[in-house]
Amino acid sequence: MDRLLITIDGPSGAGKTTVSRLLAKRLGYTCVDTGALYRAVALAALWEKCAADDDGKLAEICRRLALRFEDTPKGLRLYMNEVEITENIRTPEISMLASAVSARPVVREHLLEVQRQMGKNGGAVFEGRDMGTVVFPEADVKFYLDAARKTRELRRYGELVVRLGRTKISLAEVGQAERKRDENDSGRSLAPLKPAHDAIRIDSTSLEIGQVVDLMLRHIAALMK
Ligand code: DC
Repeated sequence: MDRLLITIDGPSGAGKTTVSRLLAKRLGYTCVDTGALYRAVALAALWEKCAADDDGKLAEICRRLALRFEDTPKGLRLYMNEVEITENIRTPEISMLASAVSARPVVREHLLEVQRQMGKNGGAVFEGRDMGTVVFPEADVKFYLDAARKTRELRRYGELVVRLGRTKISLAEVGQAERKRDENDSGRSLAPLKPAHDAIRIDSTSLEIGQVVDLMLRHIAALMK
């Protein structure tokens, strides 16, 4: 089989990151978490005290940003100008700031090229919000992964508590923040979150991660026959 370019879009908490990583592993592909790129820009903005709507400074920050993923047994690690920022970008503050900077055209234009460059040889699973609609409209296989809101909120909450040890955060707080972020990401005028017209939609509410991956593999095999 050719080295395909596969996209997975969907709202936060739908399981995109875990699924795309496992799917890429099964196919021997690389996996690109594009949300992490927006998070990196947000982190750079925070460190440089740049407001989320300061387009001039954001453009300048983007120009100086060298982003690189490394696939390790511990998972995908992200480096910004050779400083590892894998964990720094996972805080609720960065989630919200990433959503804000991702609505700025200067940031999207810059990352569009970065992402296309990363995908130019195929053999990759890209996950995000606009992979199938804007970044790779010609992708070989497109998925739109969704889940019931409550399920998504519970997953994000679990992730924050387990991964970051944020035991003081409440489910209600996480739910409120995620709803706001989904609203921003779907409501913005530039590259809003929406399924591509030719995306295969999968609802992961009552599916285990492994079942989602198996289902995707069956779709891919059927499409490539
Ligand atoms: O997938 P994530 O939650 O890590 O993404 C963080 C933010 O980045 C998200 O709220 C919106 C933005 N994003 C985007 O606009 N386009 C993408 N392809 C991926 C993420």
